[in-house]
Amino acid sequence: VQDTSGQSVKVSVVGASGYTGAELLRLLSKHPHVEVVSITSRKFSGKRLKDVFPHLSGSKFASLPFSELDAESVGKGSDVVFCCLPHAASFPVVKEIFESSGARIVDFSADFRFRNPETYERTYGVEHGAKELFRFASYGLPELNREEIRRSRIVANPGCYPTSVILALLPAVKSELIDRSFPVVADSKSGVTGAGRKEKLELLFCEVNESFKAYALKGHRHAPEISEKLGIDNLRFIPHLVPMSRGILSTVYFKTQAKGAELAGIYEEFYRDEPFVAVSGKPPSTSDVRGTNCCRLFIVKDERTGLATVISVIDNIGKGASGQAVQNFNVMFGFDERTGLNQIPLWP
Ligand SMILES: NC(=O)c1ccc[n+]([C@@H]2O[C@H](COP(=O)([O-])OP(=O)(O)OC[C@H]3O[C@@H](n4cnc5c(N)ncnc54)[C@H](OP(=O)(O)O)[C@@H]3O)[C@@H](O)[C@H]2O)c1
Repeated sequence: VQDTSGQSVKVSVVGASGYTGAELLRLLSKHPHVEVVSITSRKFSGKRLKDVFPHLSGSKFASLPFSELDAESVGKGSDVVFCCLPHAASFPVVKEIFESSGARIVDFSADFRFRNPETYERTYGVEHGAKELFRFASYGLPELNREEIRRSRIVANPGCYPTSVILALLPAVKSELIDRSFPVVADSKSGVTGAGRKEKLELLFCEVNESFKAYALKGHRHAPEISEKLGIDNLRFIPHLVPMSRGILSTVYFKTQAKGAELAGIYEEFYRDEPFVAVSGKPPSTSDVRGTNCCRLFIVKDERTGLATVISVIDNIGKGASGQAVQNFNVMFGFDERTGLNQIPLWP
């Protein structure tokens, strides 16, 4: 364990021009132990952060220029590199940083999330070119894996949907309350930033606005991630796109013998000491957590059908990505987990 409390940690952000990179820089701007030393982008190389993202003009890193990615020099100049690249673009960069420097890495992509490379290759349909690094990586969900994160050289930040669904099911799984003879159903709705900052026909304003659709009905890549982390084989996961910028609301159903009050008590107890997960007294909205690293859960049991329903809300680029990455960073470097993450939600 590396305890750097009191010091400034040298941080680089690779792929800093995307939604998660920009949100990460917003959060790091208020982190007292962070010095951002480099930010990379191919499109905006040479431009200053504040010229690309005017909302970050007040950041302490506002005048930092974007540079082209040189993984070796980024690694050598940093204590930690946040890698905000798409899957498959990430593992070559992680490999080069890992081999050429001592920097620790928080990887936002799916490239190191699974326990083994075979599951990744099957799920993502690409050959993994850094299989030997899996043993140095841990899954970056602190509520599941805090001790491993503390020690790891590479932390694989979870997917946004998996974060919302795993947090909704974890207490029930750990308490063995789920009747495994019935499928577990996760019905998740995401805002459009979940798809990344790219020019795609189906993400145009007129295609998304005033509309609501399910997608990936034959199987979404996040289903195997959720299944592996929870040890649930019979999961049915259906994602939806909703016309909002940020936020995920997952409605998760499972069969259980436990009564509603018992379930609520177990969830409250399980998350009692977690700084970012709270059990809510009424069904939560995505605007209850927008711009934060929080997850809010609501549990209800329908005695007639025997189905428990858990509603889980997060901000997909908060607890679903960049907030979670800062939480992982705090765990890795021995800071209080809440450091830099005390935002009040932007409501409504
Ligand atoms: N958006 C979310 O809610 C969310 C949540 C959880 C996890 N994630 C994961 O986080 C990662 C980043 O997501 P995002 O939403 O920020 O994506 P994004 O908005 O599309 O940004 C991707 C970033 O990577 C750079 N980039 C793209 N292709 C590249 C390549 N081949 N080589 C080098 N750089 C490349 C882009 O900048 P240039 O083109 O300027 O180089 C940009 O800075 C992805 O792996 C995603 O799956 C996203």
